[in-house]
Amino acid sequence: MKKTNWWKESVVYQIYPRSFKDSNGDGIGDLQGIISKLDYIQELGADVVWLSPVYKSPNDDNGYDISDYRDIMDEFGTMADWEQLLQDVHERGMKLIMDLVVNHTSDEHSWFMESRSSKDSEYRDYYIWHPGTDGRPPNNWESVFSGSVWQYDEKTGEYYLHLYSTKQPDLNWENPKVREDVYDMMHFWIQKGIDGFRMDTITTLSKTPGFPDAPQVKEGPFQPATQYYINGPRLQDYLAEMKREVLSKYDLMTVGETPGATPEEALSLTDEETGVMNMLFQWEHIEADPGTGGKWGEDTWSMPEFRRAMTKWQVELESRGWNTLYLSNHDQPRQVSRFGNDGEYRGESAKMLATCLHMMKGTPFVYQGEELGMTNVAFETIEEYRCVETRNMYRAAIEAGGDHDSLMKAIHRKSRDNGRTPMHWNAEANGGFTTGTPWIGINPNYPKINAERQLGDPNSVFQYYKRLIALRREYPVIKWGTYQVILEDDPYVYSYSRVMDEQTLLVICNFSDQPRSFRWDTLHTYARKQLLIGNYNPGVELESDMTLRPYEAAVYLLQS
Ligand code: GLC
Ligand code: CA
Repeated sequence: MKKTNWWKESVVYQIYPRSFKDSNGDGIGDLQGIISKLDYIQELGADVVWLSPVYKSPNDDNGYDISDYRDIMDEFGTMADWEQLLQDVHERGMKLIMDLVVNHTSDEHSWFMESRSSKDSEYRDYYIWHPGTDGRPPNNWESVFSGSVWQYDEKTGEYYLHLYSTKQPDLNWENPKVREDVYDMMHFWIQKGIDGFRMDTITTLSKTPGFPDAPQVKEGPFQPATQYYINGPRLQDYLAEMKREVLSKYDLMTVGETPGATPEEALSLTDEETGVMNMLFQWEHIEADPGTGGKWGEDTWSMPEFRRAMTKWQVELESRGWNTLYLSNHDQPRQVSRFGNDGEYRGESAKMLATCLHMMKGTPFVYQGEELGMTNVAFETIEEYRCVETRNMYRAAIEAGGDHDSLMKAIHRKSRDNGRTPMHWNAEANGGFTTGTPWIGINPNYPKINAERQLGDPNSVFQYYKRLIALRREYPVIKWGTYQVILEDDPYVYSYSRVMDEQTLLVICNFSDQPRSFRWDTLHTYARKQLLIGNYNPGVELESDMTLRPYEAAVYLLQS
């Protein structure tokens, strides 16, 4: 099969279906809602749609807990709706990629219900069971969603392993039957005509045998136990087999979710001959938080650390491999609140962040609402939060004597629900997301920040994204040029160049709310300078010593 690289020239739009558009007034986004908004995505210029899971699920983790891989979640519609969606996407010349969640299933999947029913069940070994040690869980690994990864199950008196919620038991990849069933399921969807997979938590499939205790130190965003299940001993075998049995037979886009991956690992996972995916979501820039205390700890984000991480990945994947470009998704807070300024400079900083990212080399991913500059939300009570990670963390922290106010502060900053409030379509009730009661509260700023308003405003964040995406199609240097950081030590201004043949692209981004100077001595060597895009009107005149306005971004095409 001849493989093409269409995914290198694509821009992906990520949909979190529950929060995108409700078509029937039950307060929950659905497939018909998505269908009704395909024009909008096309208008933006994205050509691939990634759907977060739409499979049958009891929604403990909003669809990332799947109870039937071959059926559609009732709230989202039917298989016929899904087929219509696929057809409509394809008719527009766009592509559709689906989430592949095979580290775990729901505890309501028939495999697990069988598995937990008896030690002799033929499905027992589909999951990871352990008798425990002296009446205690087998080890000290902590779940990503708080508490032990081991859940005691009365019926058979053993523990099962769940890296995520107790309702997400991990599949036992050691069992060849599990792997076969997963591959069959992948064929099922590919044969329906999908164009690829986003592979959920794909590097955690193999657990270290014997389940050794993790050291007690906690440093950085990842728990120490991850060394025993991220890139576990048999991961490469499983992925090689998945490639042999499934992926090598088709021309698909595959993108892996790989927390903690290094560029070296990325090169091996994406190697054209031996790798199993086209590209992956690295986490270094998203966790560019050198403080301790993990995800919910103090905010010590700094632009230089972010620039170091971005640059490292741009440079190390320059000649081999391929980067994803993303600042947001359904697991992360809104980027304008996190890395920009969601007050006075919301529009400017949303555009600046987009410029900084979209002029890099890789495949850009736009998460629903990002193209409007949607912001974080701050619900007053924990009851208003829906995210299982947030709720579990809060409960565990309160039990451990934590303080409500400081926990809420951390939640306002980091909860995944920041990115999961309903999409803002217009200024009508509930932002036009639903005529009913939304499943999660809507951000009260929807009358000001919404799609309808931005579609009609040439200076909107939406129109700016649209131009960035169009520029990528127009200028090969944006797709293929070599990246080089310019003022490596500047504390506020992130500048880089992209070079291809005779063309040089100069990207300058002020990450601060103050005017900042930019000085680049090499500039005089270029005879022609053309401003391609900028977030201030009129754009700044390029000079070798210039002052950038707060959150100003500008991109120039230079020719000698
Ligand atoms: C991934 C998903 C996240 C989910 C988790 C468990 O990290 O992006 O939303 O909760 O896997 O499936
Ligand atoms: Ca609905």
